Amino acid sequence: MVTKAAEPDISARLGGLRLSVPTLMGSGCYGSGEEYASLVDLAQLGGVVLKSVTRLPRLGNDAPRLVPVASGLLNAIGLQNPGIESYLASDVAKFADRPCAVVGSVAGFSVDDYAFVTERLAARDEIDAIELNISCPNVGAEGETFACDPDLAERATRAARAATAKPLIVKLSPNVTDIAAIARVVEAAGADALAVINTVRGMAIDVDRVKPKLANVSGGLSGAAIRPIAVLAVWEVARAVRIPIVGQGGIETARDALEFVLAGATAVSIGTGNFTDPRVPLAVASGIRTYLAERGIATLAEIVGSANPGFRGAR
Ligand SMILES: Cc1cc2nc3c(=O)[nH]c(=O)nc-3n(C[C@H](O)[C@H](O)[C@H](O)COP(=O)(O)O)c2cc1C
Repeated sequence: MVTKAAEPDISARLGGLRLSVPTLMGSGCYGSGEEYASLVDLAQLGGVVLKSVTRLPRLGNDAPRLVPVASGLLNAIGLQNPGIESYLASDVAKFADRPCAVVGSVAGFSVDDYAFVTERLAARDEIDAIELNISCPNVGAEGETFACDPDLAERATRAARAATAKPLIVKLSPNVTDIAAIARVVEAAGADALAVINTVRGMAIDVDRVKPKLANVSGGLSGAAIRPIAVLAVWEVARAVRIPIVGQGGIETARDALEFVLAGATAVSIGTGNFTDPRVPLAVASGIRTYLAERGIATLAEIVGSANPGFRGAR
């Protein structure tokens, strides 16, 4: 009798957050999941990271706010959102029936903002975990970006940690000299997991109009163009901390995702890839299963960090 080999287990654990599939949808790139529900069975996704929400409503930057560039996308949305009170009143209840994890994303312009918005959002049952988007300027400290300053990154994380017992994922910026140093202080401040990386600063110029293409002048680069930057960041962070990493930046295929896993990511997130094909997350999950099955590997966790001799995390 021929017995069918058991399917590899591709589940992932981010602190107290268990994902049956190791793919999250990146903040700002998947709405609340609702927009894709007719195209993609959300039950086959690990989870959705919601658009970042701030204390007060924000209209965002002037248009143009999105510019396609070679192998990527420049965005300067400017954190457009209705503000936490309106978000809680009108939006959050819609996430109750999601068949995958729902991660709320918090942005802020002061340490107090991070504490306040985290506490308000995490208190809702619809929200399974919080991701802290610390790529924002601190208005009280000459606009220094939280994610680029160890002291500010630590204070924002500590404040959010004190505001909720739910799993806390802190999202790091690549726009620093030493991302591992920031990762260490954020881990020490109580983060359960790290999202690595947010967008890379960039700009494009319209040579006919002789001016920047984005109204905001500069923006964040995402998509395939940043993948090697992101893989290196995961590699470096995985040598510096023990908490799990959600790798992201230009993932379009299962093999892209596996680069992040082998560098040390426990799970992955897909953002810009959804804009060209919303089924990318499904193909990534099934391609990871096939990769493991072909090699007779029972669990995804076994290969996390296996290309990285300095990997320190727990598998
Ligand atoms: C249009 C757009 C909007 C985004 N909005 C947010 C956001 O609100 N909060 C956040 O933490 N990251 C935001 N991101 C960053 C993505 O979540 C992701 O970390 C980044 O784009 C790298 O992954 P990718 O190359 O797969 O898109 C945004 C990215 C894009 C392209």
